[in-house]
Amino acid sequence: MPVLPPNGRLRWTDVPVPLRARLEDALGAPVTAAVTPSGGFGHQLAAALRLASGRRVFVKAAPDDDPLTAANLHEATVLGALPPDAPAPDLLGIHRAADWTAVVIAHLDGPHPDLSRASGDAGQTWALLDKLTSSPAPAAYAAAVSTSPSTAAVLHGWDELISAPPADLAPAARAHLPQLAELEAAWPALAHGDRIVHGDLRADNMVRDHHLGVTFVDWAHATTGPACIDAASLAPQLVLAGHAPADIARLLRDHPATGTSPDTTTAFLAALTGHWHRNARKPAPPGAPGLRAYQHRAAAAGLALIGYRLS
Ligand SMILES: Nc1ncnc2c1ncn2[C@@H]1O[C@H](COP(=O)(O)OP(=O)(O)O)[C@@H](O)[C@H]1O
Ligand SMILES: [Mg+2]
Repeated sequence: MPVLPPNGRLRWTDVPVPLRARLEDALGAPVTAAVTPSGGFGHQLAAALRLASGRRVFVKAAPDDDPLTAANLHEATVLGALPPDAPAPDLLGIHRAADWTAVVIAHLDGPHPDLSRASGDAGQTWALLDKLTSSPAPAAYAAAVSTSPSTAAVLHGWDELISAPPADLAPAARAHLPQLAELEAAWPALAHGDRIVHGDLRADNMVRDHHLGVTFVDWAHATTGPACIDAASLAPQLVLAGHAPADIARLLRDHPATGTSPDTTTAFLAALTGHWHRNARKPAPPGAPGLRAYQHRAAAAGLALIGYRLS
């Protein structure tokens, strides 16, 4: 396995020559440029490739002994099983050589959505989540994710923080630690459901494609579960993007994906926020600069929202 980049992603030139040749062969033209998009915390290759033919494709690749290859393959299975009208790019192929695996995905053209109040992207994302979760996942999708455990279902943090509260824990969290731990403890039993769950919804896992509009990418954590998971995950992101927590708390109360299951939504938000509060204090993993700082910010945003849901 190559040494992980200390501060960023593997590059196209880090991919072994046999896999690069295999990809160029399969895509029918040499690669003339590889652009690594901004955003995300992964260390694998994730790049938009421009081909001599003018075509662009998106590729994720990692060594087979890197856990991200299993994640990329899960994503590929999911992309192949999502309903055609799901807000996701098409899977184009999977290629292996030199003990590396590459997943080729249709290229989306555009920036990350602007989730601030100034843009309509947040509204579009809420509408997509309503549509995505309004009916049970199709059987092909449910089968595709059935062998991978849900990462959302195992989120937790308050259970550890309560036994040794860190000195810098926000006063609002400290004051409610027993209640937060109790809500989080209820989450695993509520985490099951039959809806499509993206499982990692943030602006950097969406692209506002010039033709398709807001489209979700990075389906590596996709699973089935209750309808509320993605909407409740999006909510702290909107607070981070500048929305008033009170406005987002009201949206959570009213949105179809969260409004009909308030207890499940609160339990999930508690587990997600506990996860952030706990993980933000861990040492930084290699190749993921910015992750801990992001988790600190997200932890505060999640806590602000939970404040509106505690009795
Ligand atoms: N199909 C795509 N077309 C164009 N850009 C994409 C596509 N999928 C992802 N991206 C961009 O690449 C970045 C990294 O891809 P992502 O799938 O999120 O990988 P990671 O698992 O490493 O976060 C995303 O933040 C996004 O900017
Ligand atoms: Mg990502």
